[in-house]
This record gives sequence, structure tokens and C-alpha cells, in this order.
Amino acid sequence: MEQKVKIGIIGLGQRGMATVERYAAIHEAEIIAVSDLIEGNTERARQELLRQGHTNVSIHYGEHSWRALCQHPEIQLVLICTDWSSHTRMAVNAMQQGKDVAIEVPAATSVEECWQLVHTALETGRRCTMLENCCYDTFHLGVMQMKAQGLFGEINYCEGAYIHDLRSDQGWMSYTVSDHKGNPYPTHGLGPACQLLDINHTDRLVSLVSMSATNKINNTLIQTALGRSILLQFDERTPRPYSRMQTLCATKAYVQKYPLPTLQFDGEPLLTGTEAELRVESYHDALTRQLIEEGRRMKVTNLMNYIMDRRLITAVLQGKPFDISVYDAALWSSVTELSALSVQLGNKPVAIPDFTQSN
Ligand SMILES: NC(=O)c1ccc[n+]([C@@H]2O[C@H](COP(=O)([O-])OP(=O)(O)OC[C@H]3O[C@@H](n4cnc5c(N)ncnc54)[C@H](O)[C@@H]3O)[C@@H](O)[C@H]2O)c1
Repeated sequence: MEQKVKIGIIGLGQRGMATVERYAAIHEAEIIAVSDLIEGNTERARQELLRQGHTNVSIHYGEHSWRALCQHPEIQLVLICTDWSSHTRMAVNAMQQGKDVAIEVPAATSVEECWQLVHTALETGRRCTMLENCCYDTFHLGVMQMKAQGLFGEINYCEGAYIHDLRSDQGWMSYTVSDHKGNPYPTHGLGPACQLLDINHTDRLVSLVSMSATNKINNTLIQTALGRSILLQFDERTPRPYSRMQTLCATKAYVQKYPLPTLQFDGEPLLTGTEAELRVESYHDALTRQLIEEGRRMKVTNLMNYIMDRRLITAVLQGKPFDISVYDAALWSSVTELSALSVQLGNKPVAIPDFTQSN
């Protein structure tokens, strides 16, 4: 019989409902349980699952109902799409119940929570990842292949950001962001930059310095053990055009995605816009090409989510490590607290823990 990954989803708000729709459409996945605080949200999810032909779904609502979902004996993978405050608590419990977990961004809100994720994954032998979809951006995937082919020479510096005008948003995220002193949402910018610098493999993040302007624009500079650096920006409060920067400076080339896709090989003509994008994406590997084609055929609204989801389901089915390890999830999320600490200390450097050294 064909194997399917049995999934439970906790948190059925904006992102959680979109997650239900995405995974319900994946042939190798089967959502068998959902949980939310609010009964109406579980009902909406049930209707959507029915519409997509999934009839056998356990419904859990209420504040503690997620614990029952984590105990469901058939669930292999728990997807956590609640607000930030509950991510780690839920992920730890799910792993202790023998489930693999995938947590929305950021996976944790403090260094202490980051360690909890790492320790629980090691103690239980479960896989824990973060749903950092920007690591599956089609431009970034092309750049990663160019790096694998050695086209950049030495990469010394990267920039990443989350610049998104969300001034009209009045939900929990805007309140949490306005109380935060540093960069509350670092992983969209930091994840791709860390992958380009092989962080947690051949290099590691060692310290950061962070500075926030009165309008909450945050700049964080991160130093690596090999003397390379990352600039990370956060701005949700100005009319600035959307950007995640995705900039890389290397000895043989310069590449950026935002605000204008740009590719400059040393000594060659400058490529910008569609020309740069097409060139970068011409380096995609066969699997990425296949997933992009599939996604386009299925008319998915967001290719990076589709690539991420399909790769995650395949890794669960094949018992392979997840692309984004628990160490990556912990490290990238830890900048949430550490950037605020640096700001509060008057922009002093703050050490970044090495989560791979967990003994
Ligand atoms: N990767 C992306 O591009 C992206 C985009 C949007 C949001 N997100 C992330 O997704 C997560 C959710 O964001 P959102 O905008 O959907 O928030 P939301 O407020 O719309 O949804 C959160 C849901 O969690 C539910 N919830 C809260 N506590 C619960 C509990 N104890 N048990 C069960 N359900 C509970 C709420 O009832 C709500 O329905 C956040 O981590 C956010 O950062 C990621």
C-alpha cells in the first residue's frame, strides 16, 4: 500500500489554515488531526479537509486540546502554527510523545527555549525542524547551487532582512513586535545567509551587536568564527518596499535578490532584473526543477512553500534528516532574544551559543 505521512496540525489561524490547504493537496501527506483554541477554526479546517476528500480527521478544540492531538498514536509529524509563545512547549511535548515536529517561525523566543528544543530532540531521537520557507525561495536555491559549484570563490559577507510594511496589521504579532527591543523575527533573513556560510557545519556564529532606531527598525551585525559577517535587518514600520535582501559578497561574484535581482561575476557584464533571475535559476538541480514544475502544474500560490512541504514529507517518509536541523532552528531563533539583549546593554557585543555543543 502507498505510504502517507500522517500529520497533526496545531493552530488554525491565518498561517495554520493555509498549511491545512497546502498539506491536504499533497498526495503523500494525510492530515488526521487538527487543534485550535477556537471551535469555529477547527470547523473551518474540517470543511476544507472534507472539500479535499479527507474524511477521517480528529478534531480538538480548547486551550489544552493540543496535548490530546500529540498523544494520537498514528500521528508521525506535528506541524505547529500557533503564535510564538507556545511553539517550544508544544514541540517539546510532541517529541516526548514520539512525534517528529515542524515549527513555524521563529521556533523559539528565548535562548532557554532554543536549548529545550535541542535537548529534547537529542533525548527523544526525534527530528525537529523549523518551517523557514525563505530557505526554499527559488532564487536562493539557485544561489546555493552556484555556491556548490564554487562559482563565488570565498564568501565573506551576507545580508538578510525582513522588511515588510505591516503598519495596518493590528494582530498579536504587531503588539509583540512593538514590545520587542531587538529583532523579533530574524529567521527569514538569517536562515538563507547561514546556509550560504555553512553555519553549523564549517563555520559558526559567535557574537552579535544590535541597534534599534526609535521607529523599531533594527540592524544586527553577526560575526562568525572564520571572521565573516552577516547584516540582518528588520523593519515592519515604514513604507519601505518589501525586501529580504538575500545579498552575498564573494571574491568572484556579487548577487542579491532584493530590491532588484542582480548578478555580477567579476569582469563580466552586470545582469539585473529578469536576466539575473533567469541566470541564477538556471543552476537549479534536477529535484528543484521537478518540484517547481509540479507546483506550477498544481497552480500552487507560493512555490517556496510547495518545495519546503514536499521536501519535508519526503524526508519523513524516507527517514532522512530534515534540511533545517534542530541546531539551525535553535540558532536562527536565538537571535530574537540575543539582539534584544545587545540593544538593552547599549549595543554591546553578545556571545551566541553553539547549539551543536549540547553536552
Ligand atoms: N513562514 C511564513 O511566511 C509565515 C507567514 C505568516 C505567519 N507565520 C508564522 O505562523 C505562526 C502563526 O501565525 P498566524 O499569523 O497564523 O497567527 P494567527 O493568530 O492567525 O493564528 C494562530 C492560531 O493559533 C491558535 N492557538 C493559540 N494557542 C493555541 C493553543 N493553545 N492550542 C491550539 N491553538 C492555539 C489560535 O487560536 C489561532 O487560530 C507564527 O509563528 C507566524 O510567525 C509564518
